[in-house]
Amino acid sequence: MIFPISRQGMQDIAQFLIAGAVVFLLLALVTRYRGGEWRRFAIGTGALGVLVIASYALAFTVAPNIPTPPVPFTARFAQNPTPDTTQTIEAGRALFQANCAICHGPRGLGDGPQAFLLQPRPVNLQLHVPQHAQGEIHYWITNGVAGTQMPAWKEQRAADGSVTGLTDEQRWSIVRYLQALATGKVDR
Ligand code: HEC
Repeated sequence: MIFPISRQGMQDIAQFLIAGAVVFLLLALVTRYRGGEWRRFAIGTGALGVLVIASYALAFTVAPNIPTPPVPFTARFAQNPTPDTTQTIEAGRALFQANCAICHGPRGLGDGPQAFLLQPRPVNLQLHVPQHAQGEIHYWITNGVAGTQMPAWKEQRAADGSVTGLTDEQRWSIVRYLQALATGKVDR
C-alpha cells in the first residue's frame, strides 16, 4: 500500500503543526508571566512537538516523494492561446482519451488500465489541475515529469521525417479539457 499523503503534503502539515506549537508556547509563556495555569499550554506545545516530529518522520520514510519538477517562471504564466469553447474542450477530450487515458484513466482519476504498473502512480488530475497554474500543467505535458513514466508530448521530428507527439495547440486544448473536467463543465 502506498501512503496517501505525499512528502510535500506531510511537510506542509508539519509546518502547520509548528505554527500551532508556537501559539501554545506563547500562551504558556504569557499565562506563566501572569501567574496563571500555564502547564496545560506547555503540554499542548509538547504534544504538537511530538506530532511535528512524527510528521517529518513519515514524510521522509513512507510518504511518496512525487517529483513534479519546478516550472520556469515564464512558462508558469503562459496563457492558453486556444479559445475557451466547447469545440476546443471536445478536441482536448478526444486527444486525452487517445493518448493519456491509458495511464490517467478516462476521467483523469489516475485509474487507467496501465496505472497499476506505474511507480509513482498518476495522481487524480481532477484534484491536481486546479491546484496549479495552467502554464505549469502545459509545461509538464510538454516536457514530461522526470523521475516518473510521464512522457514528454512536445512535437518531435525524427531524422526520417516522422512526427511524434502533439502540437502546442493540441496540448493547450487538453489543458482546456482537464480544466473543464475539474470544474464539472464536462461529464465527470
Ligand atoms: C505511460 C503513462 C502515462 C501517459 C501515457 C501519460 N501520463 Fe501524465 N503522468 C504519468 C505519471 C506516472 C505522472 C507522474 C505522477 C503525477 O504527477 O501524476 C504523470 C503526470 C502528469 C501531470 C502532472 C500532474 C501533477 O499535478 O502532478 C499531468 C498534467 C499529466 N501527467 C498529463 C498527461 C497528459 C495530458 C497526457 C496525454 C497527452 C499524459 N499525461 C500521458 C503517466 C502518464
